[in-house]
Amino acid sequence: MTSNLTTTAALPADAPPLLVAGAAGTLGRAFRLVGRIRGLRTVCLGRDELDITSADSIGQALRRYQPWALVNAAGYVRVDAAETDAARCFRENTLGPLLLARACAAQNLPLLTFSSDLVFDGRQPRPYLETDPARPLNVYGHSKLQAEQVVLSRHPQALVVRTSAFFGAWDEHNFVHHALGAARQNRPFAAADDLLVSPTYVPDLVNTALDLLLDAEHGRWHLANAGGCTWAELAQLALRTAGLDPALVQPQPAASFGWPAARPGFSVLGSQCGQLLPSLESGLHRYLADEQLLHSEPPPAYLHEAHDA
Ligand SMILES: NC(=O)c1ccc[n+]([C@@H]2O[C@H](COP(=O)([O-])OP(=O)(O)OC[C@H]3O[C@@H](n4cnc5c(N)ncnc54)[C@H](OP(=O)(O)O)[C@@H]3O)[C@@H](O)[C@H]2O)c1
Repeated sequence: MTSNLTTTAALPADAPPLLVAGAAGTLGRAFRLVGRIRGLRTVCLGRDELDITSADSIGQALRRYQPWALVNAAGYVRVDAAETDAARCFRENTLGPLLLARACAAQNLPLLTFSSDLVFDGRQPRPYLETDPARPLNVYGHSKLQAEQVVLSRHPQALVVRTSAFFGAWDEHNFVHHALGAARQNRPFAAADDLLVSPTYVPDLVNTALDLLLDAEHGRWHLANAGGCTWAELAQLALRTAGLDPALVQPQPAASFGWPAARPGFSVLGSQCGQLLPSLESGLHRYLADEQLLHSEPPPAYLHEAHDA
């Protein structure tokens, strides 16, 4: 297994930075890590330094850092909690991107923001393309779809990346981490066997999204590893790849979990722009290699920082 998180490049100290909002989240930490590896000067700010729901805070950050582009890695991702917390969900997922789009459009500044497979209703029998009609089933999906619409209407040059089901080696709040953790303790792990998604290895997502940003691409793009599967199949594949017993996975219907938010039965992402990310199998192999690197003694400094951030 080979990691692709093994090189770092020198950072030019005086280059305008890439500014990233949402530093403490899964995606924000990945931008920090990938930025270091690629030698891109990256300034990642948490909510206290850049609150995306405050025009003043956005203006101050842009004046202070004078970035060449802004990445919105912030958002409200608690899909079930959003059902009873809609005001906050819309503030962070829709108002925030709208204010960022306004500020960036006023300065002709490239903006990259992220949306979700949950803008779809799952009734389509083939992977969703960027042009397929979106019809969300839950509050979170509505907040993301409205964000796409307001961002692209205020800032047509913005890049809106729809993606799905993150897993990253330094992130302890993801499905693959939980499945492997249970199996390593020989515990059964229940997973839905009737929801098909596009699992996405976060470094692959960030690298490709950065490539698109550097190429000045805009509009909606679907970015996910190739290979849609159910959550139960993802858990089985992760366990097999790690040399663990896939029989520990207990496939169950989604309804048995009692989740408050409705989810599409099928939200696999295809793309009319081409399949830019490698296979899910490749992502899982590199996840395991990166996990090993993270737990090596001493862990590489850049990986350790991404983990601690
Ligand atoms: N996770 C997935 O599987 C997935 C799938 C598809 C799309 N996405 C999208 O990817 C993006 C990032 O997701 P993620 O999983 O990295 O989320 P995450 O780990 O929950 O991180 C989100 C971050 O956003 C920050 N934030 C929230 N409101 C903010 C505000 N007003 N100003 C500044 N920062 C704020 C949060 O800060 P606090 O820590 O202070 O709350 C948190 O650090 C979101 O747009 C999400 O919809 C995620």
